[in-house]
Amino acid sequence: MFGFRLEGKVAIITGAASGIGEAAAKLFVENGAFVVVADIQEELGLKVVASIADPDQRAIYKECDVTVEKQVEETVAFAIEKYGTLDIMYSNAEIMGPRGSILDMDMEKGFDQTLAVNLRGPALCIKHAARAMVEKQVRGSIICTGSVVCVLGGIGPHDYTDSKHGMVGLVRATASELGKNGIRVNCVSPSGVATPIVMSGMSAMGINDASKIEAITCSMANLKGHALKAKHVAETALFFTSDESSIYVSGHNLAIDGGFTVVDNSSAMRSQMLMKQKQ
Ligand SMILES: NC(=O)c1ccc[n+]([C@@H]2O[C@H](COP(=O)([O-])OP(=O)(O)OC[C@H]3O[C@@H](n4cnc5c(N)ncnc54)[C@H](O)[C@@H]3O)[C@@H](O)[C@H]2O)c1
Repeated sequence: MFGFRLEGKVAIITGAASGIGEAAAKLFVENGAFVVVADIQEELGLKVVASIADPDQRAIYKECDVTVEKQVEETVAFAIEKYGTLDIMYSNAEIMGPRGSILDMDMEKGFDQTLAVNLRGPALCIKHAARAMVEKQVRGSIICTGSVVCVLGGIGPHDYTDSKHGMVGLVRATASELGKNGIRVNCVSPSGVATPIVMSGMSAMGINDASKIEAITCSMANLKGHALKAKHVAETALFFTSDESSIYVSGHNLAIDGGFTVVDNSSAMRSQMLMKQKQ
């Protein structure tokens, strides 16, 4: 049964050819939105659109490399030309960046490339979406996909962690400026989800099974009994883009991590307290 929580809203989702973006595209259309599936993987993007198979053509693919300002600007113009307005920008595209020591960091291929996609890309998405929303006086919703590495070091590659920390600053700074126009900016920050990019990273460590990745995520969470999937992140994105969060919800970085980033499971004191609780 569909809820129609985004009835008639027009959304752009970057990185929507795969993983979390794909799940969001499907959920947004199920809830009545028109969605531009923006990505650099055309074949996969067209497959996502075909799988949505909406008779009103509520999903459409648009090639968009978020590192190229002209393409981001054109994607915003495309959404408005096709569907008449822009209510939602979901900046979700990313690359992981190479793992390795800061001592050997490749500044061009590692740092610059990762930040170009993961931080400059979202800045461009916010810039051009906000321009269109301000011009059309749309009280829009902009969201970015962050990560638990927005607030924690040591669990992701350096470049990726740096870019995601920067994203929180980007969200807070733009939320503070755009509030006067009624535009909200928020961040959804999941823990590990078995999407293609994570699967390919883990396969290098000999882990090829999605359920194993879900088990690792679950072992880090305090909230037990759930496997985190792309659709759960999409559901949080749906909350941030729907009218349910339209009053006063802006500037947040909402972790979808079962409490992983707020409870120190590693500390000796906590282990002792848990042992005492069990006794
Ligand atoms: N999967 C996880 O465990 C996890 C955890 C925390 C945060 N995230 C975040 O979720 C978001 C989505 O990641 P995912 O796991 O679904 O990965 P994914 O690889 O399945 O999807 C990423 C998409 O981004 C696209 N992309 C890459 N570079 C692009 C560019 N320059 N322009 C446009 N599109 C580009 C890819 O083609 C791909 O379709 C990312 O921002 C990621 O940092 C994922």
